[in-house]
Amino acid sequence: MRTKNVLGLREMSSEDILQILDTAVLMKPIMETKNKKITYLQGRIVTTLFYEPSTRTRVSFELAAKYLGATTTNISTSSSSVVKGETLIDTARTLQAMGIDILVMRHPMTGAPRLLEKHLDAIILNGGDGINEHPTQALLDIFTMRRHKGRIKDLKVVITGDILHSRVARSNIWGLTKLGARVAVAGPATLIPRDIEKLGVEVYHDAREAAEDADVVMALRIQLERQKSGLFPSLREYSMLFGVNERTLEKAKEDVLIMHPGPVNRGVELPSSLIDGVNSVIEEQVTNGVLVRMALLYLLTRKGEV
Ligand code: CP
Repeated sequence: MRTKNVLGLREMSSEDILQILDTAVLMKPIMETKNKKITYLQGRIVTTLFYEPSTRTRVSFELAAKYLGATTTNISTSSSSVVKGETLIDTARTLQAMGIDILVMRHPMTGAPRLLEKHLDAIILNGGDGINEHPTQALLDIFTMRRHKGRIKDLKVVITGDILHSRVARSNIWGLTKLGARVAVAGPATLIPRDIEKLGVEVYHDAREAAEDADVVMALRIQLERQKSGLFPSLREYSMLFGVNERTLEKAKEDVLIMHPGPVNRGVELPSSLIDGVNSVIEEQVTNGVLVRMALLYLLTRKGEV
């Protein structure tokens, strides 16, 4: 990989993306056998610093680091000196002064990892910054699509729901378009960013129309915590008009993959019949998240080594 840090897929080359996906495949036996003798990251300290809640990203980074032999520490901001007013930069520098090698961070502010980049020697991995990017989520999504479909080029991938507030959507759009997928977004006009067509995506306000011939339909979580009121009438109406259900998928390909980054609001973005149905790969996405994060930790710490 050419970069020291992983802050987003906007700046990542398609070659680097493919190298990560290929390396993630090689991580599967290590994860499955829980091989305790792996020492790739022995002597390295991986710290997670999350200013927002997380289950999947935080735990999978921790497990990925442990599978590769690293030492891990986790900072929960609610029980750290952040609550006493310590700044993000001072918090990160304090951790670095204790010898951390890799910082995985999530922050509500767009650009927070970029801000830290100037102050830290440690490798930084973005676990989600505001509404900007969630690069490792998109990498695991793309990995999952490629595993099932054998390619990314020319796949029709439909991303539905709250595109405006979704860092997952942004990172997927950057990554998928670089690899040649046809990306469509669908949602109410209030939840689609203006000028998103400039990123090379098709825009629909009807999920059923968007899903015609789709290879993948990815429903996004309604981000109630980021929304101003008035973007849609109610959750029930949102679900009726923009949720994905069996009717939405009538014209999609027979083997369409149903994806969701999680956590899912069951019955809002997707019904349980689809979440737990035969076309769903939602749980597999979580497993693949560990593989992709193992690949990233491995590649970022291998630089200059033969
Ligand atoms: N998809 C995702 O980022 O989930 P978490 O918030 O649980 O990490």
